[in-house]
Order: sequence, then structure tokens, then C-alpha cells
Amino acid sequence: MYAQMVDTGLKEVRTADDMPPEERAFQARIDADIKIEPKDWMPEAYRRTLIRQISQHAHSEIVGMLPEGNWVTRAPTLKRKAILMAKIQDEAGHGLYLYSAAETLGISRDQMLADLHAGRAKYSSIFNYPTLTWADIGTIGWLVDGAAIMNQIPLCRCSYGPYARAMVRICKEESFHQRQGYDIMLAMSRGTDEQQAMAKDALARWWWPSLMMFGPSDAASVHSGQSAAWKIKLLSNDELRQRFVDQTVPQADFLGLTVPDPALRWNDETGHYDFGAIDWSEFHNVIKGNGPCNRDRLQARVNAWDEGAWVREAAMAHAEKRAAGAARAVASIQQQGRTA
Ligand SMILES: [Fe+2]
Ligand SMILES: [Fe+2]
Repeated sequence: MYAQMVDTGLKEVRTADDMPPEERAFQARIDADIKIEPKDWMPEAYRRTLIRQISQHAHSEIVGMLPEGNWVTRAPTLKRKAILMAKIQDEAGHGLYLYSAAETLGISRDQMLADLHAGRAKYSSIFNYPTLTWADIGTIGWLVDGAAIMNQIPLCRCSYGPYARAMVRICKEESFHQRQGYDIMLAMSRGTDEQQAMAKDALARWWWPSLMMFGPSDAASVHSGQSAAWKIKLLSNDELRQRFVDQTVPQADFLGLTVPDPALRWNDETGHYDFGAIDWSEFHNVIKGNGPCNRDRLQARVNAWDEGAWVREAAMAHAEKRAAGAARAVASIQQQGRTA
């Protein structure tokens, strides 16, 4: 998902027998659906896993702005441009809520960004694909934001309070993102032959990478058992992926677009769509840094950081000046008090 393959660092799921009393009390609170808050005791592995998960999620939000930012100057109408800009700004906000949530676990924002820029931290594989036409912007909103909602609605109930609360607001905004994407696709699929061809081509390129967003199959997922016990992963990768396929295929039908999977068919017995095999070698290759845009995306983030240095320095200098002014005012009031 926006956080794929998050490693808990634990080989086996912890059982009550393995746990010291404080950990048993911590797990009992999670089992009773009581939120864990920043100042509560928590196992080090829970803290580290959440830092990885939330920071990966935050990085995905801000790297995810890049493929769309590429289209702000080329949006077909003023209205589409204003909507796209609002959507991209929402993503920046999502990044900020999530960096703030991660900071409550004792890591600084500078450290998280340094890890991203050095290639130590990951972001979602989906943002390493290029946006070639305007239909890609529609497809991203429809599929990528649609997949994000699928994953993030359950996270509103996750065990870590600051993360769960950030998710509530994020999900509301994601639903607007999904609709704006679908609205673009609706316009294009009812448009000229050329627009219809663009919509078809975009779906063909984004379908499989969107399914890969949910991460490896359950059979190949390591460490997810412990994340489930901690309630920071509430549904498995395959469950989420199936829900996404079941929701999205009828939407494609409504657009008159064909999902590029010859094996896709409704299964009356299971009550779900069956779908074809995912090319996991492509997924692992993109995660390793070899997708079509990995280098460009990372370079764009590093450049933004370097070019923004003067803004950070100016903001700090301004804050220091204000603090010094306030200290002088307090000192002068105290002085007057003494001389009065
Ligand atoms: Fe977002
Ligand atoms: Fe979004």
C-alpha cells in the first residue's frame, strides 16, 4: 500500500508467555480496542514498526504529488486545474499530518526526510510510474486514490491514536480525490475517439501497478501476523486487493472500459471477481529502485529540500528574532516592576 512490506523485525508473533507484565498490559489494551497514545509504554518493536509504516506512508503522500504536479500547467480547463491543485495540496497536508504522527514516536522530521533522501526509507511503488497523458491523472485519482481509501479506512481503527485520528481526515479527502479522478475518466470515456483511446491506454498501464500497491500476496507476506496482533494492519494484502477489484471492475464497466486482464471474471460461488496472476518480479524490481521513474522522483525530492534551505533558515531566523523580542519585552516589564 502506501506502506508496503513493513518489517516488524520480529521472527514470530509474540504470545502472552513471551511477554513481561507491562507488555501483557499493553496487548490487553489493544485487544480491548483502547488506543495507545504517545506517552504510553509500548514495546520497542511496535514503536519502530510504526515509525517505518507511518513515515513510509508520509513519504508516499509527498512523492505522490510529483506525477500529478507534472500536469498542473497542462490541465485542460481552468476548473480542472483548480481541482487538481486542491488535490495535490491535500496530499501535502496528508504528508504533514503523518510526519507529525510519526514524530510523536520519537523520530524527527529531519531524520525521516534524510532517510528518504538517502534511499534508506521507501515510499509506495506506484509513484515510480510516469504520467503520460491527461487520462493518467483521471486514472490515478480513480485507481490509486481508490486503492488508498481501501487501505486507509480500516486504519482509522488502528491501535495508535495519532495515526488513527490522522486517517479519519485523510480518508474524507481521499474520497474527493477518487471522485475527481473518476469524473475525469467519465468525461474522457464519453468524449472523442482520441479521448476514449487515451482513457483505455491509461487504464491498461495503471491497472496492474494499482493491484501491486497492496503489497505481496498473503502467502509471501512476512511479519504481517505481528502487525495484525498489534492492530496496525487490520486486513491482509489479499483481502484488501480483492475488495478493490470487486469495487473497481463495475466502475470500469460503467465507463465502458475493459480491465486489461483476460482472466478476470465474476465468480458466482465466491461472490467475488477472480483475477489473473500479478507479475511480482516487476513489483520487486520497482521496490528495489528500478522502476521507470525512481531516480527522477528521488532527485526531485532532494532538489526540493536543497532549494528550500533558505526558506527553512529564514523561518528559523524569524522565529529566533520573535523569541528574542518577546524575552526583551518580559525583561522590560520586570524592570519596570522593580523600579515602580
Ligand atoms: Fe493522500
Ligand atoms: Fe489522495
